[in-house]
Order: sequence, then structure tokens, then C-alpha cells
Amino acid sequence: MVQVKDKQFEVFLPETEILARTSQLAAQLSRDYANKEPLFVAVLNGSFIFAADLIRHVSVPCHVSFVRVHSYQSTASTGTLTEVIGLQENIEGRHVVVVEDIVDTALTMSRLLAQLREQMPASLEVATLLCKREAMQTDLALKYVGFDIPNRFVVGYGLDYDGFARNLPDLYVLKD
Ligand code: IMP
Repeated sequence: MVQVKDKQFEVFLPETEILARTSQLAAQLSRDYANKEPLFVAVLNGSFIFAADLIRHVSVPCHVSFVRVHSYQSTASTGTLTEVIGLQENIEGRHVVVVEDIVDTALTMSRLLAQLREQMPASLEVATLLCKREAMQTDLALKYVGFDIPNRFVVGYGLDYDGFARNLPDLYVLKD
């Protein structure tokens, strides 16, 4: 059990299990992207640990880049907009794999993919450590998923509660 600010969390997935699954994903990516020189685009901040562990186990030549996603309400009529910050590479004609820590409602990811698609990559896939399928509000094809998890709040291994707990090696779930 661990206390983060006002909340208590219990271990959900130990680091060893995460690393075992992450190296399986990396092996799958290495097979699928042999000779394609993929560009991994990790979404900060949450994916920094997963991205580091995943990409270190990818055995084919690849490039790595980082973006942040800034969501904001523009006007009531247009709803939420998403701005992709920091992508310096030209992704036209590239094989792009977006690396994310968690897909929850999937709204962030679907807007990010829509923006990346405009730049005409040769292919575009998602590698996410965690997916809360029951919470997804949009139908998104997620090719590389580490773990499908219940719709509960998790922290650790890069994921935060109010900025804290990213440093915890294991993944924790909020206690009932
Ligand atoms: P979305 O609902 O799929 O758009 O999720 C957007 C973002 O919410 C994710 O990239 C995470 O940063 C954050 N998030 C969603 N669920 C959790 C959670 O259980 N713990 C920590 N952050 C989360």
C-alpha cells in the first residue's frame, strides 16, 4: 500500500510483469517493423518510462521523438481542440508508432491520430501500455496493447495523481 497525497493505492501490476509484457510488445514491433525504420512518437509526460523500456527492447533501426498534447476548449460550438506540441520530424511517408501510457476515453488519442494523419504518414499505429476498454468513448483500433485494465484510476510507472507518483516502479490502483 502507498499513500499519494490524500489517497491510498495498492499494487496492481508489479514492475516485473510490466517489463515482461513490454519486452513481448517490443519483440512484436521489431518483427512488424523490420526494414521500415519506424518513428516512435512518445506522448509526454505519462509515457516516459514505458517508452524508455519499450524502445530499449526494440531491435530494429528506429527513430524516437516526443510530443505533448495540449487540450483546450475553444468555443462551446467547436468543443475541445487538441494541439500537438513539439513534433519536429516530418512524418510524411514514415511508419509512425505513437507510444502512450494509457488510453481511457480515447478522446486524446483519436484527436492526436487525426492530426498526425493529416501529415500523411505511410502508416500510423498505437502502442499503449494500458487500455480501459470500458471507458472508451470512440472506436479506436489499438494494435499494440500491454494490458486491458478495468475502469479504475491507476498511478506509478510514469502515471501520476496530481503530478505525484510517476516515480513508483510498480503500477498501483486506487483503493476502494
Ligand atoms: P483519455 O481519456 O483517453 O483522453 O486519457 C487522457 C489522459 O488521461 C491519459 O493520457 C492520461 O494522462 C490520463 N489518465 C487517464 N486515466 C488515467 C489513470 O488511471 N491514471 C492516471 N492518468 C490517467
